[in-house]
Amino acid sequence: MADEKATLNIPGLGLIELPIKSGTIGQPVIDIQQLAQHGMFTFDPGFMSTAACESKITYIDGDQGILLHRGYPITELVENSDYLEVCYLLLNGELPTKQQKEEFSSEIKQHTLVHEQLRDFFYGFPRTSHPMAIMCGVVGALSAFYHDSLNINIPEHRHVAALRLIAKMPTLAAMAYKYSIGQPFVYPKNFMGYAENFLHMMFSVPADIEERPDPVLVRAMDQIFILHADHEQNASTSTVRTAGSSAANPFACIAAGIAALWGPAHGGANEAVLNMLEEIGSEENIPKYIARAKDKNDTFRLMGFGHRVYKNFDPRAKVMRKTCYEVLTHLKLLDDPLFKLALKLEEIALQDPYFLEKKLYPNVDFYSGIVLRALKIPKSMYTVVFALARTVGWVANWKEMLNTPPLRITRPRQLYTGYEQRKFVAINKR
Ligand code: SDX
Repeated sequence: MADEKATLNIPGLGLIELPIKSGTIGQPVIDIQQLAQHGMFTFDPGFMSTAACESKITYIDGDQGILLHRGYPITELVENSDYLEVCYLLLNGELPTKQQKEEFSSEIKQHTLVHEQLRDFFYGFPRTSHPMAIMCGVVGALSAFYHDSLNINIPEHRHVAALRLIAKMPTLAAMAYKYSIGQPFVYPKNFMGYAENFLHMMFSVPADIEERPDPVLVRAMDQIFILHADHEQNASTSTVRTAGSSAANPFACIAAGIAALWGPAHGGANEAVLNMLEEIGSEENIPKYIARAKDKNDTFRLMGFGHRVYKNFDPRAKVMRKTCYEVLTHLKLLDDPLFKLALKLEEIALQDPYFLEKKLYPNVDFYSGIVLRALKIPKSMYTVVFALARTVGWVANWKEMLNTPPLRITRPRQLYTGYEQRKFVAINKR
C-alpha cells in the first residue's frame, strides 16, 4: 500500500486525503495526524480501532492466534529459550549469543539486591496489604534510591534502569510475599538462575536446611515468565508509554504499569479465575455460572475468557494448559479438582454458541492460576508474578519510545458534551 491514501469526505470541509501506512505484517493504518488541522478529531473510546504507536517488539494476529516476539513464535521461545534470553531479545531485537547471554546475565546479577533502607518501606504497610499495593509503592520508591539512572535523556541511565528493574522485581515480589506471611526476607543468591532465585527467595526459610528449588518447578516458573513477558500495546504497556511520554523516571513509569495491570479485567484476572473456580466449586454448578456470564443483567463474567485482540485461542493459554498438565503430573496432583473443573468449564463454554459467536476463548490467565497454585504461590501473588514477568515488556516499550524521537507527550482530545459557557451566579442568588 506504499503511498496509498484514504479519502475522507467531511461535510463542510470537503475531501481530505490521509496517508495509509503499512507495517511489515498486520493491518495497515490510516495516518490521521493532520486531521486536527481541519478542526476534527476521531472518536475511539478504549482504542478499539486505534494504533497508538509504531513498534517492532511484539506482533499479535488475533484471528490466527499468533504471538511473535521480534518475529519468533511464543511457542518456540517457550520450548527453546529461557526468560533472560527472551528479555535480551525483547530489549535488543535479537536473541543473544552464548557470550552475550552470559554478559547480560552477569549484568542482571549485579542488581538483584535492593537498598537495605528499602526494607523499611515494607514495614509501613499492614501485613494484610495486598502484595500488589506494596509493589505499586516500593517500585515507585526505587526512584528515591537510584539517582544515577533517572535521567531518561542519557542512554546509560536508561540501560542501568532497565537492568535494575528486571533484576529487582523478583527480589521485591518475594519480599512482598514474605512480609505478608511474617517470615524474614530472603536475599537473592546469584549462583542461581533467574526463576530459581525467585522460588528460592519465595520459599526458603533461614531456619531450614538450604535446598535448591525443584528443577521441574523452576522450568515451569521460567516458562510462565516467558508467557507473560510482553503483549503489544495492552492496557498496562500503554500506561507505561503514557507515563514515559511525560519524561517521568523509569521507576515511576513501571509503577504506573503495575497499577494498571492490577485490574481484574487485565492482569488481575489470574487471581479472579481462581476465585471464580473456587466459587463454582463443582462441575454441576458450571451451567449456572455459564448462564450468569451470558446474562446481560448480571455483572458476572467468565474470568480468563475473552480478549480484545485474540478472537481465537490465546496461544499462551494452550502452552499454559500444557505446563499445567506437566507440573501437576510431576507433583502427582493430576486429579487436582480445580484443574479438572477448569478443563470441564473450558469444554462446556466452547460448546456454547454465546462464547463461540462472541469469539470468547480462554486467555493466558485461565490456566496460569492453577499452575501457580501447584507451585504453592498464593492467589494474592498471581498478579505480582504477572507484573514481575511483564516488567521486561514494559521496559522494552519504554526504551523503544525514547529511542524513537521526537518524544511526544500523550495527550488525547475528547468529545465535549458538557455545558456551554454560562454566567456565574453567587451562592446567595441561587
Ligand atoms: C489480559 O490486552 C492484552 O493483551 C491483555 C493481556 C496481556 O498479556 O497484556 O493479554 C492480559 O488482560 C488478558 C484478559 C484477562 N481478563 C479477563 O479474563 C477478564 C474477563 N474478560 C473480559 O473482561 C473481556 O473479555 C476483556 C476485558 C478481556 C476484553 O474486553 P473487550 O475487548 O473490551 O470486549 P468487551 O468487554 O466489549 O466484550 C465484548 C462482548 C460483550 O458482550 P456485548 O456487550 O457485545 O453483548 O463479549 C462479552 C461482553 O459482555 N464478554 C464476555 C466476556 N468477555 C467479553 N461475556 C462473558 N464473559 C467474558 N469473559
